[in-house]
Amino acid sequence: MRTADTNTRVFYLGTKIVHGLNSIGETGPEFKNFGGTKALVVTDNGVRNAGHVEKVLQSLEEAGVAYAVFDEVEEDPGGATVGKGAELASSERCDGIVVVGGGSPICAGRGIGVVVTNGGKIRDYTGLNKAKKPPLPLIAIPTTAGSGAEVSQFIVLKDEELHTKMVAGSPLYCPKVAILDPLLLKGLSFGQFVSSGVDALGHSVEAYLTTLTTPITDAIALQAVAMIHGNLRAAATSDDLDAKEACLIASTMANMAGGNARLGLVHLMTNPVEGMFKISHGIAVGILLPYVMEFNLPASHVRAASLARAMGENDSGRSIEDLAPRALIALKRLLADLCFPRKYSEPQIDRKSIPQMAAMAMGGQYSVYDPDKEYSMTALVPTANIRKATMGDLIRLYEKAFEGWECV
Ligand SMILES: [Fe+2]
Repeated sequence: MRTADTNTRVFYLGTKIVHGLNSIGETGPEFKNFGGTKALVVTDNGVRNAGHVEKVLQSLEEAGVAYAVFDEVEEDPGGATVGKGAELASSERCDGIVVVGGGSPICAGRGIGVVVTNGGKIRDYTGLNKAKKPPLPLIAIPTTAGSGAEVSQFIVLKDEELHTKMVAGSPLYCPKVAILDPLLLKGLSFGQFVSSGVDALGHSVEAYLTTLTTPITDAIALQAVAMIHGNLRAAATSDDLDAKEACLIASTMANMAGGNARLGLVHLMTNPVEGMFKISHGIAVGILLPYVMEFNLPASHVRAASLARAMGENDSGRSIEDLAPRALIALKRLLADLCFPRKYSEPQIDRKSIPQMAAMAMGGQYSVYDPDKEYSMTALVPTANIRKATMGDLIRLYEKAFEGWECV
């Protein structure tokens, strides 16, 4: 029972979402809608070779919008790439950005927009609400069903100095428009689809298991879980456009939920893993997800039961306590069907780095690990995760993630 009016929450979404087959053709008209005359088109080589950029350029040309192309975004980009793109945008006098690609180009493009209007380096904007001026207006066109960066307030990039992820957040950083065209997912490999889809599933599950959930974020997160869990197998292994479109829209929804309810231990703990070692974000997330779900179970029986229902588990005749662990079983079955790795493996990830990774996860992107310092195992982790965790819990979870699991 509520005894005081202390639960004010905000649900923020600053992005217009245009979706459907061939919606990429709306790029030019949407760019003109916000008064843009010249676009910096940001992408990577793989996306350019897949032919998606040509469709964007055609739409811009038909709308009478000039453009320059920056196609040098690498996987897991950092400040150097953002700086290069910002220089090009300024020298070409671009007044808006169109990004075509996965989470990496979309975050790089959004970082470019911040640096062009605010100056300095993207690293200067680490933290919340650091930019004083709105970035260049931006259209984000995802080519994976994963990060949901096309509707995000948060820019996540590699911090080349601290070897972890830097996160810059502000409502100003939401793209103006997201265009979700499932035809752009057709060329994705099985591995790319699975890795990005499991990341999106991680966002939707984590957004449902925080201390900041609301009825709005719950509805979006649960629906996203159902859509991804029900469609990822077909989307990754066939040409089923309906399944691909469901995963694409759900990945956007997952970020809408997570951007407001925040995420939990999985994303907190993957930042140092990715910063220190060569592993893709989706794989790093999907390996940790079952272990963190199991850890969360004692604090989330009712919610885990809802997740189980969303993942298609039959609830007739089952108590909440019986149904709740079935969410984990349903997750593991999906991961097993997708041949997803079940543990971090050496030498790809160095097990001896666990204390350092835990310390970095504790302190977010500002933490610099000192091997001579005593880190308290009982210190509470600063996170919105539904179950309170300590530094010792993080270490145990990382240890478990090297052991693997069996499918029930
Ligand atoms: Fe993620």
